Amino acid sequence: MGDRQHLEECIRLASQARGATSPNPMVGALVVRDDEVVGRGFHRCPGDPHAERVALDEAGDRARGATLYVNIEPCSHQGRTPPCVDSVLQADIERVVVCTLDPDPRVSGGGVEALRAGGLQVDVGELADEAARFNEAYLSYKTRGVPFVTAKAAISLDGRLATRSRESQWITGEIARQRTHQLRAETDAIAVGIGTLLDDDPRLTARGDNVVGPRYRVVLDTNLRTPLAAKLLGESSGRVLLFCGPDAAADAEAELGAAGAEVVRVHRGDNGLSWDDILAELAAREVMSLLLEGGSAVLTSAFEAGIIGKLFLVYAPLLIGGSAALSLWGGEGIGELAAAPRLRHVRHFDLGDDWAVEGYLQAPEPPL
Ligand SMILES: NC(=O)c1ccc[n+]([C@@H]2O[C@H](COP(=O)([O-])OP(=O)(O)OC[C@H]3O[C@@H](n4cnc5c(N)ncnc54)[C@H](OP(=O)(O)O)[C@@H]3O)[C@@H](O)[C@H]2O)c1
Ligand SMILES: [Zn+2]
Repeated sequence: MGDRQHLEECIRLASQARGATSPNPMVGALVVRDDEVVGRGFHRCPGDPHAERVALDEAGDRARGATLYVNIEPCSHQGRTPPCVDSVLQADIERVVVCTLDPDPRVSGGGVEALRAGGLQVDVGELADEAARFNEAYLSYKTRGVPFVTAKAAISLDGRLATRSRESQWITGEIARQRTHQLRAETDAIAVGIGTLLDDDPRLTARGDNVVGPRYRVVLDTNLRTPLAAKLLGESSGRVLLFCGPDAAADAEAELGAAGAEVVRVHRGDNGLSWDDILAELAAREVMSLLLEGGSAVLTSAFEAGIIGKLFLVYAPLLIGGSAALSLWGGEGIGELAAAPRLRHVRHFDLGDDWAVEGYLQAPEPPL
């Protein structure tokens, strides 16, 4: 097997911890000697050993003269665990192959430099774009200081989120809904607008066996209209964060606070609460990924603010029609076709009787 296949295997290993590593990246490592895999590892969760350490431990003496594959540069700083670069040097590895550098300012090429200074051959760049998309949340957080935003919606073939009487449950089928719960389990925070909260009363939890929900469940609610009886307040999994405007009523804040929500005041933007303020507040709480689940007004303002990194749309084979029905992207929309944002790295697949389309409006740049 060549370098590329070994790196693909690292990503496959790393993906076993999807949703569990934040604020760390997902990392997988392989130790390969004479074409034989003698060690493999992945990083399970913060505080646990790094992937390289696990793979080197499994390889033991057989790591001597071997090649280490890892999807992101080994760390060179003392964190919750000792620097991996030291373990690699001690194990007498001969060559290291990584997809990308680690944009963490404490590493940022320092790992590769230290390995080269120790006499190792280090190759960087194979499978870089794939590895960057794989760790899109971590890269967005480390390089731009904001969470990576994925917009998700279940829509009719004609792009409607709900009927004119605001009915949307359920446009898509059971299998698509299960996939939604998986997406929720993989994200640090989920957000909806107050319109969706009032219409659908969602819990915003991830349901399923052995599933841990997102750390934050977020509502954009300028005037704190969230009812005290809202189902999301009755659930203990994941903190509830209500973003409101500067002049929301203090008594509503106190009541919602007593019901378990945290209220954060932010500025108003052109179309509702300021996305800059919201993303900055979430970043300060080490939220690397945000799943936007609607509704129409929230998705529209997010499209217009240019904050969406990726779309995950599930199309059901039905038509809703009507100009009063809610659209995925309302408002003014795009005038010139040439200015219409086009998705990149598009994938589509079946979800029962429905179809998922996934693609990037902003793909992460691999740090090389
Ligand atoms: N099919 C699907 O996947 C799906 C998903 C979600 C929702 N839905 C449907 O969509 C409908 C709700 O959509 P909606 O458009 O009425 O409401 P929405 O997008 O859920 O909430 C919009 C409201 O949020 C507040 N808000 C605060 N900051 C905002 C900002 N930056 N951008 C946008 N809104 C902001 C505003 O109310 P204030 O000024 O009062 O704060 C605004 O009117 C429901 O019928 C629901 O069933 C469908
Ligand atoms: Zn490390």
